[in-house]
Amino acid sequence: MISKTHILFSLILVSSFSLNAIHVLCEAPAPAPAPAPAPAPASASESQFISCGSPPDGETDFYGRKWTSDSKFLTSSDNTKSATTDYQDPALPSKIPYMTTRIINSATSYKFSVSSSKRLLLRFQFYPSVYGSLENTKAVFDVTANGLTLLRHFSPFITALALTQAYIIREYSLVPVPSGSLTITFTPSSKHENFFAFVNSIEIIPMEDTFKPADLIGFNGQSIDVQGSSLQIMHRVNVGGGYIPPINDSGLARTWLDDSPYLLNSAFGASFFNGIFLGVAIEAENNVTVQHTSDVPEFVAPLSVYRTARSMGPDPKVNEKYNLTWVFQVDANFTYLVRFHFCELQSTKANERSFEIFINNQTAEETADVIQWAGSIGKPIYKDYATHINDKEGDEILWVALHPNREQHPQYYDAILNGLEIFKVNDTHGNLAGPNIMPSKMLLNADAAARSFMPNLL
Ligand SMILES: *[C@@H]1O[C@H](CO)[C@@H](O)[C@H](O)[C@H]1NC(C)=O
Ligand SMILES: *[C@@H]1O[C@H](CO)[C@@H](O)[C@H](O)[C@H]1NC(C)=O
Ligand SMILES: *[C@@H]1O[C@H](CO)[C@@H](O)[C@H](O)[C@H]1NC(C)=O
Ligand SMILES: *[C@@H]1O[C@H](CO)[C@@H](O)[C@H](O)[C@H]1NC(C)=O
Ligand SMILES: *[C@@H]1O[C@H](CO)[C@@H](O)[C@H](O)[C@H]1NC(C)=O
Ligand SMILES: *[C@@H]1O[C@H](CO)[C@@H](O)[C@H](O)[C@H]1NC(C)=O
Repeated sequence: MISKTHILFSLILVSSFSLNAIHVLCEAPAPAPAPAPAPAPASASESQFISCGSPPDGETDFYGRKWTSDSKFLTSSDNTKSATTDYQDPALPSKIPYMTTRIINSATSYKFSVSSSKRLLLRFQFYPSVYGSLENTKAVFDVTANGLTLLRHFSPFITALALTQAYIIREYSLVPVPSGSLTITFTPSSKHENFFAFVNSIEIIPMEDTFKPADLIGFNGQSIDVQGSSLQIMHRVNVGGGYIPPINDSGLARTWLDDSPYLLNSAFGASFFNGIFLGVAIEAENNVTVQHTSDVPEFVAPLSVYRTARSMGPDPKVNEKYNLTWVFQVDANFTYLVRFHFCELQSTKANERSFEIFINNQTAEETADVIQWAGSIGKPIYKDYATHINDKEGDEILWVALHPNREQHPQYYDAILNGLEIFKVNDTHGNLAGPNIMPSKMLLNADAAARSFMPNLL
């Protein structure tokens, strides 16, 4: 007999494979970019895109984005060196910033001048390739930002293997730094003497705060101080739409993934076939104008997120019988902020489409009505809810489900969602680090290097 956990695990495995496929699809041909003029020094309030280990003049990537070299931000270069790899994985979107790296052999800090009043979007990329004679399995390290632990005992190699991804993005939203000085420290794990740290890129993007206290579901009236907390962005999906590459997301360079790999298929509903439970992707018709508003400007999410959505489907009898459900892998023992992006693309009146929102089987919202919230068709809106994930068996999964609200007697038994973001909130000990994501037994059986390396991590 196949257990539910088993089904879920393979589901997640399948999701990761699909994610990889997405990266492959986005692979671009590689015409030579125009030579870059020498970059002007960034002012503290500007975005900084840093390609680690790159030549002093910096580089321009396939999309025309300019990357600065990391060397001038190092507080000491004694135990670091720049390195390059020869292998360009076909899933890399561009050679830059992946083919060069900074190798760090003992605790080393970068120091950046940053905006002193804005939240900072901080993004790292790790491409666990082979750099010279270094074994990629020996890269195990911690990362802190002004004392906040972001990564602990982190192995990009194991994480990439588990997710079947060529490179790993780790992204954070940090509380403003009043001193205007951000220190990021990489420390190789001390478990083995030959362990080292590496990083391919560091991006620091000042951004407007979009966070308010959020209700903690299931804790009557208790709320989470999101504004005073730093966050890790765990998932960001464009529901019912496709992959949105960094270059298409304003200046924030966020990546939005296709939601379909995260949809819970019919595995749990015995008598239904695949497809019935996956809803229907919809797109704004020509007669519907989707526009940002002063409450929801472009930095909240690009228009392409709001122009597409997923609804449950045309048959009210089917919709009544199922929950449109997504599942996401998260780390246990943390509180999460779940942000729902909505924009009505079909309905024009309140109570045409009224639905319930469940997070982890608890009611987050009894009566969600996008027209009532936003005022009209084509107007974006977002809603935040907080949920705590314990560390009981099977709890590393965050469920999001929608179901028509029958009690409201809406005109259509249906639901809609345009985008979803899941943020991990720092704990009370100033920590955001979770454990490494472990590869499945099946992958381990197929990968001898990983198998021999696993004991080092446990
Ligand atoms: C990204 O933007 C470019 C230029 O505006 C456009 O041609 C392309 O279709 C967009 N791609 C996606 C996936 O949104
Ligand atoms: C837009 O056009 C479609 C048919 O092409 C129609 O069904 C729909 O009601 C129209 N929407 C609005 C808001 O006028
Ligand atoms: C979660 O927290 C509890 C209590 O602090 C601890 O005993 C447990 O090991 C933690 N679990 C994980 C997966 O970190
Ligand atoms: C939610 O319900 C589903 C289906 O009954 C169950 O498999 C799952 O474990 C539950 N999730 C949580 C977080 O309780
Ligand atoms: C939808 O999910 C909620 C919360 O887990 C559950 O109580 C309800 O029974 C589900 N409805 C259907 C039709 O599966
Ligand atoms: C996150 O860290 C900050 C600063 O250490 C702290 O004030 C805040 O309470 C933490 N957030 C949570 C939800 O524990």
